[in-house]
Order: sequence, then C-alpha cells, then structure tokens
Amino acid sequence: MQIVFGIDFGTTNSALSVYRNGTVEVVAIDGSSHAGELMRSVLYFNEENEIYTGQEAIRQYVGDGAAGRFMQSIKTFLPNTSFDSTEIFGKRYTIDDLVAIILRNIKARGEAHVGCPVENVVLGRPVVFSTDAAKDAVAEQRLEKAARKAGFKNIWFQYEPVAAALAFEESLQAGQERIVFIGDFGGGTSDFSVIRVKGGAFARSDRRSDVLSLGGVYVAGDKFDSQIMWDKVAHHFGRYARYKTMGKDTWVNVPKSIVYTLCQWHRIPLLRARATREHIRVIKGTTDNRQAIEHLENIISDNYGFFLFQAIEKAKCELSGRDQTQISFIERDLTINEELGKGEFETLNADNFRQIAGCIDEVVARSGLSPAQIDTVFLTGGTSRIPHIQALFAERFGWNKLENRDAFTSVVHGLGSSVPLFM
Ligand SMILES: Nc1ncnc2c1ncn2[C@@H]1O[C@H](COP(=O)(O)OP(=O)(O)OP(=O)(O)O)[C@@H](O)[C@H]1O
Ligand SMILES: [Mg+2]
Repeated sequence: MQIVFGIDFGTTNSALSVYRNGTVEVVAIDGSSHAGELMRSVLYFNEENEIYTGQEAIRQYVGDGAAGRFMQSIKTFLPNTSFDSTEIFGKRYTIDDLVAIILRNIKARGEAHVGCPVENVVLGRPVVFSTDAAKDAVAEQRLEKAARKAGFKNIWFQYEPVAAALAFEESLQAGQERIVFIGDFGGGTSDFSVIRVKGGAFARSDRRSDVLSLGGVYVAGDKFDSQIMWDKVAHHFGRYARYKTMGKDTWVNVPKSIVYTLCQWHRIPLLRARATREHIRVIKGTTDNRQAIEHLENIISDNYGFFLFQAIEKAKCELSGRDQTQISFIERDLTINEELGKGEFETLNADNFRQIAGCIDEVVARSGLSPAQIDTVFLTGGTSRIPHIQALFAERFGWNKLENRDAFTSVVHGLGSSVPLFM
C-alpha cells in the first residue's frame, strides 16, 4: 500500500495530510495546541541545546524566560542567499538543517498515526519564493535538501494555490466545471492562481493545462505586522530619536536599517552583532531620547520581540472582526498602549494592499480572461480574513463570487489530493 504525506510548511503554521488508498486525511500534528491540525512553524533551542517545535517550543521559551534561542518565519529565510547558517549555543545549523528539524518532527507524528515509515512526500511551495529566479531556485533546493535530511526519499513539489484549488474541487459535484481564482494569503506570501476545476477530476493525470495563470507577492500577514510596528510602535524604540556623532554638533537620526530590522521581528537577533550593539551604545551617549534607546537595547538583549509581535498580531486579528482595538504590551519599564482603528490599519498598509491588488490584476490578465469570466473566488490562508482583502476581490468580482473557508487546511488537504498527479 502506497502512503504519501502532504506537508504544508508554512511561514506561520505547518500541517500534514496523509494520502492512502485514494483518500486524503488531514492529521493532527500538534496535539498540544487547540487547533491540533496546525503546528506553529517555530523552533526553540534551550541552553542545553535541546530542541523543541510548535506549541512546546513556545511553552519552553516562555517558561525559560526567553533565555534560549527562538526562531520563527524560517521559511522566509529560504530564498535569502546571504543567510546560509547560524550558530546556536556553539553548534552550526544551515537553513536546511533548521527546516529539517520541523519536517522530521511532522514526519514522525505522521508515521505514528499511520503506524509505518513513510518516505514519500508532496511539499507545498509558494508560487514565488523570490522574484529573483536564482534565489527562487535556491529556496526550493534548500527545501528539498531539508526533506531529504528529514528522511524523505521521494519528494515532489506542488504550488500552494494549486493545492488549494484541488481542495476546492472536491466540494464540487461530479462534472461540475468552474474557473476559479484562488487567493492564498498566509504569513509570508500571498499566492494566486486562476485554474479550471471540475468535480470528480481528482485522479486526472496532468492538470498543468488547467492552470491558466500563477503569481504571487511577498506581502502577507508578517508584512502587516511589520507595518504596524513601523508606524505605531517603533517610536518606543527610537525610530525618531536623534543623536550627535563624535566631534560634530549636528543631530542625525538613528539609522533606518536598525529600525527596519526591528520591524521584522524574526530578524531582531541579527542586531546582536557586536558592531551594531556598539553603535547603539554610542547613540545612547548623546541621544535626545535616552529612554527609547534603552528600550531598543533591552528588546535586543532580552529577546522579547516575540511577545511584542504577538501583541501586534493579536490587534491585527481583532481588526478582522471589529473597527477599533488597542496594541497593549508591558515589559519592565516599557508600557505600550496604542489605539488602532480599522481605517487606520488600512491606510498605513495602503502600499501593501496596492501591491496585492496589482498582483491580482496581473494574474487575472495573464489568464486571458476577464473578471466576468471567472466563476468563483476561493480565498484561503489566515490573512484572507482581513476584510479589506475580501473587499479587494469584491470590487473586482462582486461579493457573490467570494468563497472563504478552511482558511488553514485547504492547502495541506490539496497537497494530499495532488498525489495521483505524481504517481
Ligand atoms: N483573523 C485574522 N485576521 C487577520 N489575519 C489573521 C487572522 N488569523 C490569522 N491571521 C494571520 O494569518 C497568517 C497565518 O496564516 P497561514 O497559517 O495561512 O500562513 P502560512 O501558511 O503559515 O504562511 P505562508 O503560506 O505564507 O507560508 C498570520 O500572519 C496571522 O497573523
Ligand atoms: Mg500557507
């Protein structure tokens, strides 16, 4: 009996499906989380170099008072050719080593579920890891290498939105045909495709001719969080602070590169580089906002970026259900209490929404169809819950064409449904 795993290694969440005997099942891989089907794509190394994944990683990190090394959004490093490896408590890990730890864990949980070793996997990949073709290839190679290190022998890739389309297809009656625009809005990427689906088409061998166009942008949930940090929170950490450089009497701003890194929380540990810390120490000597620079030093040394960004993400998610919320965060002598309205959220992310809208229009144009010829818009991924994202589609296609369901599992389900395409 042939068993194949489908693994959706996401920027924020990962999930597993099992294909056997022509059926697909989504399997819980993180029993400790309330939504056991999802495992947070995070790693935690404690000082004894014990490694944890998922909710357990978060629990250990919190329990240790953030003493060890916590990593998330690892997927976004895949196309980053200037990041090859990192040292964690004296041991060097390449990017594929890190991904392999997560995949190995998912594999083990899947094997415990089916009761035998499994060496076949269909891995999801975004339509664009990077707009730079060379980097895009590097990202896929690294993901493949990680899967090999995790113990998989036969590895196939499927585009994430195509997988979502296959999941959608299963809800159609046999013979029912539709042209669907798939929008998968995750943590790291927003991926799109226009695809022809047909109820009962499950085992058709080659679906390539049904994919009318594909596209994507590197703008998704993490970008919205970063933008909130930049506009609403970064001033607590010296965004507008000035200082005087040695021997001169003119004020200069804290380097944008530091603030920018601070706004991508998974990169905050990079600010621990000795030269950067020294620079910040010099800034502190003459700055007009010493308190903010102290907060900057603290977030770098105490590693609480994760909790700050959780507060930001929470506020963002709340705005999907109401018009007004607060970003609240307390850490030692730092108290943040920022009001954030839905309209304001949309305004400060206007450029991010514009990029998404531009990409939607391009993908429709490349399909050779007009919006009127598209029957259904199927939205999936956590970020598709943002009302303004839905509005972008309603403007173009009309509200009645929008379908929004299984935000977190349609991709992984579709990866399982992809199996017959590769066999
Ligand atoms: N109610 C909500 N409103 C807005 N955003 C949300 C909501 N719920 C979850 N999100 C966001 O959705 C994102 C996670 O979605 P998902 O699990 O689909 O991503 P992923 O598959 O891990 O990422 P990717 O597909 O880009 O690799 C996070 O950025 C999270 O903040
Ligand atoms: Mg995803």
